[in-house]
Amino acid sequence: MEREFLLHMTGGQGERSYANNSSLQRTMMLKAKTMLEEAIRRLYRHSSPKCMKVADLGCSVGPNTLLVISNIIDIVHAACVGLNHEPPTFQLYLNDLYGNDFNTIFKSLPEFYTKLVQDKGHKSGSCFINATPGSFYGRLFPSNSINLFHSANSVHWLSQDPFLGLSKEALNKGNCHIVTTSPPSVYKIYLKQFQKDFELFLKSRSEELVPGGAMILLLLVKTETPRRSIFETISLTLSDMLLEGLIEEEKLDSFNIPTYEATMEEIREVIQEEGSFFIEESEIDMVPWDGRKIEDGEDFSVDGDIRAEFITRYIRAVMEPLLVANFGTKVMNELFIRFQKKVVELMKVERLEYANLMISLTKTCS
Ligand SMILES: C[S@@+](CC[C@H](N)C(=O)[O-])C[C@H]1O[C@@H](n2cnc3c(N)ncnc32)[C@H](O)[C@@H]1O
Repeated sequence: MEREFLLHMTGGQGERSYANNSSLQRTMMLKAKTMLEEAIRRLYRHSSPKCMKVADLGCSVGPNTLLVISNIIDIVHAACVGLNHEPPTFQLYLNDLYGNDFNTIFKSLPEFYTKLVQDKGHKSGSCFINATPGSFYGRLFPSNSINLFHSANSVHWLSQDPFLGLSKEALNKGNCHIVTTSPPSVYKIYLKQFQKDFELFLKSRSEELVPGGAMILLLLVKTETPRRSIFETISLTLSDMLLEGLIEEEKLDSFNIPTYEATMEEIREVIQEEGSFFIEESEIDMVPWDGRKIEDGEDFSVDGDIRAEFITRYIRAVMEPLLVANFGTKVMNELFIRFQKKVVELMKVERLEYANLMISLTKTCS
């Protein structure tokens, strides 16, 4: 339960907030628009709900939170116009863990509602936004109640430190994530946690979805090409700091970054074994760590400092609350200065990219 308070993005609207440092996640999220349109068209082939219930899981705080909702409303409206249907009323649920800065979202709602009416011509009272705090690794909604789930950049977060209750001695000592020198047993521990979590995630969502309900997930994955993970890079930075006596050994040993980038095969296997969902479509998109597409032959390290600074700012907004809880505030500036330098060096020799999976699922009617 403690982690469910500790894990959250940096709240508020300050310079270091997630709200001001999440344009990369927005770029990733917007790539799924066509998939979302198709999923909504498919939903309308089965039913035409009077009240469309949609939940965004791992909504965090900032412009992305309301943008996804606004897009979904627009897509449903367009689908209704095409089908000559009366547009539905919307009940939209924003979910995240308990420590998420829901208050900042609430404060932006009056403006959002006004815009819906003024700019988009929606009827006042046609959209109701609710917050649903809690872990998506478990039930959040009543049975058979939700038409559409959406989740961006969240399901690669595990429910807990995968080493909880296990000794890290000799296994991954000096590291806090999977790094290139980690033995296979470390991968297995992370994979096992992912399998357990993802299965519970699917089971919970299948109980909550109406028959034929849809789910769009966007998450970081691993592909066949070996690729450095940004979480590994944080781990490497912390390992350097340990060697230089800047952080304590016990603190590093008792901490593991709770994220796992699964392969498509690992994901497919859990979906098939759990059995409640059919994969409609899936696509993996390569996204450079700074979001800027690299042309073939172009050197990623051009503008290296600027790129690394941007990358550092958003990963700090994502990771700082969790890292502070374990290592304290004092070392944060040093950690991210070193992280930024490491990214500049890595960019000279590697292509730093995320593999972002977009997957569209439908609840099977069993
Ligand atoms: C990187 S943010 C993504 C936010 C937003 N969807 C976007 O794309 O900008 C990941 C979010 O997932 C949330 N999260 C992680 N594990 C969660 C869980 N088990 N239940 C609910 N939210 C979770 C985090 O708290 C965080 O706000």
